[in-house]
Formats: sequence, C-alpha cells, structure tokens
Amino acid sequence: MNIAASPGRPGSPASAPDDAIIDASAVDYTVQVAGKPMRILRGVSLRVEAAQVAAIIGPSGSGKTSLLMLLAGLERASAGRIVVGGTDITGLDEDAMAVFRRNTLGIVFQSFHLIPSLSALDNVGLALEIARPDLDLAAVRKEAAATLEAVGLGGRLDHRPGALSGGEQQRVGLARALVTKPRLLLADEPTGNLDQKTGAAVADLMFDLARRNGTAMVLITHDPALAARADRVFTMMQGELAETPREKK
Ligand SMILES: Nc1ncnc2c1ncn2[C@@H]1O[C@H](COP(=O)(O)OP(=O)(O)OP(=O)(O)O)[C@@H](O)[C@H]1O
Ligand SMILES: [Mg+2]
Repeated sequence: MNIAASPGRPGSPASAPDDAIIDASAVDYTVQVAGKPMRILRGVSLRVEAAQVAAIIGPSGSGKTSLLMLLAGLERASAGRIVVGGTDITGLDEDAMAVFRRNTLGIVFQSFHLIPSLSALDNVGLALEIARPDLDLAAVRKEAAATLEAVGLGGRLDHRPGALSGGEQQRVGLARALVTKPRLLLADEPTGNLDQKTGAAVADLMFDLARRNGTAMVLITHDPALAARADRVFTMMQGELAETPREKK
C-alpha cells in the first residue's frame, strides 16, 4: 500500500479503518500524586495511517511522553481504547503486551536506555535477536552492523555507550529501534540531543529507513524542522491533543 503519497492532509479522503496503524480514542491517563488524582491526558484521540509520519509538538509537561508510553503499552490508559496495528492493547496482559511490542514496535526513548556493558553492535544485535529468534548469530551481527552504518556509526561498532557521545548514543538507540523493521516507530525527541546538522542527517536516515521499510512513525519533537517533515502535526496542550492545520504551499 502506498498511503504515504497522500498523507491525510486536510481534504484527503479517509482511508479504510484497517489501514490505521494507530487508532486511539478518548484516552485518559490519570495518576495518583500524593494521594490525589492528577489527570495527565484528557480525552486524547489519535489516528495514524500505515506508513504515515505524525509529529507531536507542545510545551514541556503537556503529556507527550505520557501518550507515547501508553501507545507503547508501557503504561496503562485509565480510560479509552488504544488499537495499534489492529491489536486492542488496552486489554492485553503483560505477556501479550511484550509479544505485541516485539512484533510491532520500535521505540526510541527520550533518555536512551542502552545497556552499558554491551557494545553498540551488541545493543542493536540484542534487539534483533529477541525479535527474530530464527536468525543465526552471524546474520544478526551483519544486520546490526549494517543498521549502525546507516546511522553513521560504522566506525563505532565496538564502543560501549559510555565511550560514545550523547548524539552517538541517540543514533545507537535509533538503530536498535529500526533494526527489526517495525511497522511503527515511536520516538521521543529522536534528534533532541543533536546539533542542527547532525540532527538533520539523523532525520534523513530515519525517514529513509522508515520509507524503505514502510514504517509509520510518531515523532515527539521540539524541533520545528523535524515537525515540518511529518505528514501530519499534532499539538499537545495540557493533556489535550489537536491536529495542527498545515500551511498551504
Ligand atoms: N507517573 C507519573 N506520576 C506523576 N506525574 C507524572 C507521571 N508521569 C508524568 N507525570 C506528569 O505529567 C505531566 C506530563 O509529563 P510528560 O512527561 O508526558 O510531558 P512531556 O510533554 O513529555 O514534557 P517534555 O517536553 O518536558 O518531555 C508532567 O507534569 C509530569 O510531571
Ligand atoms: Mg517528554
């Protein structure tokens, strides 16, 4: 399917329901803080089509990361329904949720969550090994190395995270998320720690790999240049999400 070519701009027809990679409706997320409920997400609805790129912008503390955690099944919605890749994840138990994540998702966190004792190659290889138990070790290492090369880290395969710069660690995180060719990449400020030039280069790689693999992306970003490249832009404000109309070209 090639929906990326007609990316849901205002006026374009709605796609068939089964084309959605994300279909979240009326999602609430309330946490208890010092015994009092705090409503972080307020009736959030979000629909993203297969292979589409959605950017989420909005002020610090507005709820962007919280939404990503719910979409990834790492936190539970308090109300509403979240369907990702055709699976209603609001009802999954922990085991089923782990299988869902492994088969469907790549996640790039705001802080990188790399394994400190493993080299860049093994951090990326481990993710592939878990997702694809059918691959032998040589195939895993070859694919992991190729993905690290694609993000410009071919010369850093044996470096542990502690011996990499922040931007390099971020690119390892990106390679780890993309090495499995997921249907959906959830990325929290994937270029947030990079200078403008490196950020733009990493964004190029990310869009290129995603388009090649038909991966849909949800990108949380404070970077207007990155948001401008998305098919659709949403703004989070105090726990409410709204689509931001794009300026006509
Ligand atoms: N588990 C939690 N317990 C209490 N408060 C929380 C919890 N998770 C998030 N919050 C609060 O919810 C609000 C939204 O947090 P979130 O991390 O989603 O913001 P954000 O939009 O990603 O911000 P930033 O741009 O700074 O990363 C914040 O005020 C945060 O303190
Ligand atoms: Mg955040």
